[in-house]
Amino acid sequence: EPRVFSGIQPTGNLHLGNYLGALSRFVPLQREYNCIYCVVDLHAITVAQDPVELTAAIREVTAAYLAAGIDVKRHIVFNQSQVPAHAELAWVFNCVARMGWLNRMTQFKEKAGKDKENASVGLFAYPTLMAADILVYRATHVPVGEDQKQHLELTRDIAAKFNNDFSARIAALGHGDGFFPMPEPLIQGPATRVMSLRDGTKKMSKSDPSDYSRINLVDDAETIALKIRKAKTDPMDLPSEPKGLEGRPEADNLVGIYAALSGQAKEAVLAEHGGKQFSAFKPLLADLAVEKLSPIADEMRRLKADPGYIDGVLADGAERAAAIAGPVVASVKEILGMLATR
Ligand code: TYM
Repeated sequence: EPRVFSGIQPTGNLHLGNYLGALSRFVPLQREYNCIYCVVDLHAITVAQDPVELTAAIREVTAAYLAAGIDVKRHIVFNQSQVPAHAELAWVFNCVARMGWLNRMTQFKEKAGKDKENASVGLFAYPTLMAADILVYRATHVPVGEDQKQHLELTRDIAAKFNNDFSARIAALGHGDGFFPMPEPLIQGPATRVMSLRDGTKKMSKSDPSDYSRINLVDDAETIALKIRKAKTDPMDLPSEPKGLEGRPEADNLVGIYAALSGQAKEAVLAEHGGKQFSAFKPLLADLAVEKLSPIADEMRRLKADPGYIDGVLADGAERAAAIAGPVVASVKEILGMLATR
C-alpha cells in the first residue's frame, strides 16, 4: 500500500523554496496516493523557540497546507506533537541508529555551527525523529527538497537495520521479510534547491538574516516585485539553452524559479526568453510569482483569522494519524519483546 508522508517545520518565514521544493509538490500527489502532511513542531524545538511564536507558526504552516490545496477530507494534515507515537518510535530509532551515522549528517554540522558542545541533543538526534515520522506510517514516498536527501538515506538505513536485526522475530510474528518499507524520496522538478536571491551559492532559508534573500509566502505583491528587482544577477543576457546557465548560479536560480512557477522545464523557459536582459525578464518573473503566490497568501490570511477552525482541522488530523501510527508502534514493541499496553 503506497503512502506519501512529508513534514514542514513551524519556524516562521515559510518561503518560495519551501513552496516550490515541497508544498506545491504535495498537491498533485493527492490524486495518486493517500497523503499525510505534518507540522513538525518537535523538530522546531531542537533550536530555541519563542512559545508564542511557535503556536502562531504551527497554525501558519497548517494554513499554508490548506491554502495550497491539501484536501483534509481525503488526506491527513496534523501536528506532530499531538500524536505521541512519533516520539515513542524516535526513541526506539535512537537505539537502532549508530553514532557514526548521525555524525555524518551535514545539516547538523551546518545548524550547530562552531559551538557543537552547546547544540541540543535533540538537534543531533533530529534525523531519528524524522525517520520515525515517516516509518510510523510505513510511508513509501516522501516528497522533499534536495536538502533532505541525506536524512532520507538515513531513514532507509534505520528501516533496513531494524528489519535485519529482528528479521526472525518479524517473520515469526507474520510480518513477512520486512516490517518497514524502504521509503523513496521524491525530489523532482526544476526547483528542488531554490537559492538565496542575494547569493546564488546559498540556499534560500528561513533563518537568513536578510529578508531580501527570500520571498516569503505572506509577502505582498509590491514586496515580491521589489525583492525580485533587487535580486542579484550577472551582467549577461539570458541564454537560450540550459548549458548557458553553467557557472551562473543567480541566473540559473531565477530561471529555475520561473520554470517551477510556470510548470515548465528550464529548456522551455529559455527557448521563449533566451536573449532577454534580466531587466526585462525580472518583471515577468515578478508578475508570475505574484499571480501564483498571492491567492495562497490571501487564503492563509483568511484562515489565520479563524484559529479555532485550524485547531479543529489539526485535532481531527491527529485522531486519524494516531489511528494509523498507534498500531505500528504496538507492533514495534511486540517485535522488540516489550509487553503490550492495556
Ligand atoms: P523544512 O521545514 O526545513 O522545509 C520544508 C520543506 O521545504 C524544503 N525546502 C526547500 N526546497 C527547495 N529549496 C529550498 N531553498 C528549500 N528550503 C526548504 C525542504 O527540503 C522540505 O521538504 N526535516 C524537514 C522536516 C521534516 C520532514 C519529516 C520532511 C521532519 N520530518 C519527514 C519529510 C518527512 C525540514 O526541516 O524541512
